[in-house]
Amino acid sequence: MAERKKRETFSNVPSADLQQRLNTTVPHNMPLYLASVWQCESTTQADQLLAGDLDGYVYQRDCHPNADLFAEACQDLHQAERAVITSSGMAAISLAVLSQLQAGDHILVSNQLYGRTTLLLTSELQRLGVTHSLIDPYDLESVRSAVTTETKMMVVETIANPLLRVIDIRGLAKIARAADALLLVDNTFATPAICKPLTLGADLVMESVSKFINGHGDVMLGMLAGNKEHWNRVEMVNAAWGFASSPLECWLACRGVSTLTLRMHQASATAQAAAELLAGLEAVELVEYPGLENHIDHELARDQFIQGFGHMVTFRLAGGREATDRLIATEEIPFCPSLGDVSTTLSHPASTSHRGLSESQRAALGITDGTIRLSIGVDPTEEVLGSLSKAVKRAVE
Ligand SMILES: Cc1ncc(COP(=O)(O)O)c(C=O)c1O
Repeated sequence: MAERKKRETFSNVPSADLQQRLNTTVPHNMPLYLASVWQCESTTQADQLLAGDLDGYVYQRDCHPNADLFAEACQDLHQAERAVITSSGMAAISLAVLSQLQAGDHILVSNQLYGRTTLLLTSELQRLGVTHSLIDPYDLESVRSAVTTETKMMVVETIANPLLRVIDIRGLAKIARAADALLLVDNTFATPAICKPLTLGADLVMESVSKFINGHGDVMLGMLAGNKEHWNRVEMVNAAWGFASSPLECWLACRGVSTLTLRMHQASATAQAAAELLAGLEAVELVEYPGLENHIDHELARDQFIQGFGHMVTFRLAGGREATDRLIATEEIPFCPSLGDVSTTLSHPASTSHRGLSESQRAALGITDGTIRLSIGVDPTEEVLGSLSKAVKRAVE
C-alpha cells in the first residue's frame, strides 16, 4: 500500500491515495452518499452544472445519487419515462399539483382519498386559487358531468382506504383525456407489483414510499412518476419548494424495493387466505378484499392487477368499539395506524385516518366503530391466520 500523504487538518474528503484505491474496483451496491455539496473543479464547471448543461451533482437538495438510483428503480417498475423522489408521500402529491396547476384551475378530487390528501387538494389548494369538485370515482357518468372548462387534473387512489374499492383507471383516463386534464393516481395501496397506472392511461402516478413499496417500516419518502411531456417543471419545483429526500432513506428504500415482488407475492397470498378466513367467522359482519369474488370491484381488479389483489384487508367486527378494543388488547396483531410494514399490523379508521369525519359521514363511507383495516406483512401465513382467529375469538367472548 502506498504511504499516505499527511494532511495538516482533517477533512472528510478522501486523499488522492484513498481515491485511487476507491477507483480500482466498483462496490456491488450503491454507497450511501451523505454529502450536502460536491466539490467543483472550476467556475466554468460550476456554471455548467448549475445551468444543467453538464450532468453531475452539486447540491443535495437539487439531486443526489441515492435518490437518482431509487428513482430509476421506480421508473422501471412503472414503465415511466421519468420519476422523482420526495421527502414524503404528501410531498409527492404537493409536487404533482404545484408543478402542473396554477391559480384559476379546477380539479376533480375523489371523495375517498387519504385524509391529508383531501385537506391538501381542497382547503390548501383553495387558498392558492385552485378550485375543486369532490367526485364519486366509481360513478363514471357523474365524474364526466363534474368536468368544467377549467378542469386540469383528476386525483384518485388505485385502491381506496379503508374499504378497498378499486378504480377504473382506463375509464377515468378516457374522461380526463377528453377534458384535456391530467389523471393523477395515488398507487400507495397497490404498489407497482400489483398495478402500473401509467400503462392503463394515467398521466402521473405517486406513491407513499413510507408504506409497502419500501416495506420495512423505517423510511418516510414519496415518489412521483410520469412521462416526459409532463416533466418540464417537476425537477425545478422539487428543488425550489424543498421537497428533497434524504440519502439514507433512499438507500434504505433501494434495499426495500429490491424485494417488492417477492414480498407482495407472500403478503397477497396471506391476505387472500385471511379474507377467506374472516368471511367464515360469525363475529365478522363484513369483509372487504378485492380478491373475494363477492367484492364489488373483483372483476375490475382482475382486469387491472398484475399479481394477486394486494396486502390490505378490511373487516367489520360485530360488537363495535368495545369489541375492537378487546381485539387490540390481545396484542395478537399490533395496532399501528399506518401500513406496509414487514409484519402484519392493524389500524382502526374511526379513531385514526377518519377521526376528522362525523359518525354520519363515516357511516356514509361504510366505516363503523367495528371497522378494522389489516396491513398484511410477510410473516408466515399460518401465523397470521392463527393470530387473527385468536384475536377475533377473544374480542367477542
Ligand atoms: C394512500 C396514501 N397516500 C398518501 C399518503 C401520504 O404519505 P406519507 O405519509 O408518506 O406522506 C398516505 C399516508 O398514509 C396514504 O395512505
